[in-house]
Amino acid sequence: MPAYSASAPGKVILFGEHAVVYGHPAIAVPITQVRAKAIVIAEPRSPRGLVRIIAPDIGLETSLASLPANHPLAVLLSKAVSTLQVSHIPACSISITSTIPIAGGMGSGAAVSVAVLRALSAFLGRPLKDEQVSNLVFEVEQVYHGTPSGIDNTVITYARPVYFVKGKLIEILSVKKPFPLVVADTGIKSPTAVAVGEVRQAWENQHEAYEQLFEAAGSIAAAGRKAIQAGKVEALGPLMDENHTLLQKLGVSSPELDALVEAARSAGALGAKLSGAGKGGSMIALVTAETSNAVTTALLKSGAVGTIVTEIGKT
Ligand code: MEV
Repeated sequence: MPAYSASAPGKVILFGEHAVVYGHPAIAVPITQVRAKAIVIAEPRSPRGLVRIIAPDIGLETSLASLPANHPLAVLLSKAVSTLQVSHIPACSISITSTIPIAGGMGSGAAVSVAVLRALSAFLGRPLKDEQVSNLVFEVEQVYHGTPSGIDNTVITYARPVYFVKGKLIEILSVKKPFPLVVADTGIKSPTAVAVGEVRQAWENQHEAYEQLFEAAGSIAAAGRKAIQAGKVEALGPLMDENHTLLQKLGVSSPELDALVEAARSAGALGAKLSGAGKGGSMIALVTAETSNAVTTALLKSGAVGTIVTEIGKT
């Protein structure tokens, strides 16, 4: 029986998380060392239309029909059926695995959606274009994350660094000189929807102050874009540090994130910040080939439950 498989990477936000929700620019990059994978296999001997879902990482083994209608996978598959203009999904199994930490600020939900959608549309003989995949996953994200900007589905679908402004055409960012990052997971699960909702509440209460913080974060993202395009890697560290200070002021850092950021800087990182929604999840540190090991060791000693060393812009 042919199997249709697809995978999608994790991501980190280099600059501009949260501010991006309010229309300011942000930069996100894929993290290819962690991936979500989906495999769809036809099961012609099963009863008509029986779609089995097997997702061992979240302890899920069920049929699509028995999933609650508001389950992210049920929402995704129902949107897929209407977009692909099929009457139903023929009997099959959809197996999902992922090495992306769940609620860890690395886009695990969006990556699962992208992988499932690609594998399913191939199985149905109607492969979707990147733009369609990204748009559909954005619709699903809106159900769960309240008011997402669309940056996660975009970077994960295109699997390239992006300079992103909500509602504008996506800009794939060319990285003149690749640079190494260490990503560290606090191990504290932080659903994006919660952090985004809290920031919205604070923005409503302290409108002017939050607008200024968002504006400043957007300027940092714009400066980051120039530095990346010009290959001025050394300029990125101070920008990351500044962005972390703004995120602290937005109220989305945490003692654990601050401790990891501090540990990375003390071990020689050129800059460090939380990445993604915050309140837990992940942080990133800009390193060099010489400091990468020391920073990784320091992060693990300071409470990180996992680290990834990656090179941004390496083709
Ligand atoms: C999450 O990766 C980034 C946030 O800005 C939310 C969003 O842009 O949708 C916190």
